[in-house]
Amino acid sequence: GESVLHLAHRYDIELEGACESSLACSTCHVYVNTEYFDKLPEPDEREDDMLDMAPLLQENSRLGCQII
Ligand code: FES
Repeated sequence: GESVLHLAHRYDIELEGACESSLACSTCHVYVNTEYFDKLPEPDEREDDMLDMAPLLQENSRLGCQII
């Protein structure tokens, strides 16, 4: 499947992705609707580390390039 980041770009939704999905930035940070959030597989450690650096982190934060 395609990541949320790729889908956002396809549909002209503004979302940065400075490192092109290589987990070296947090510019693809998104808030996931809580209903859907619980259905996603847990973020791996590298995503968690990057998320920690994202501004305005919330319970439902994820990196868009890691949601497939
Ligand atoms: Fe850099 Fe997602 S685009 S971590």
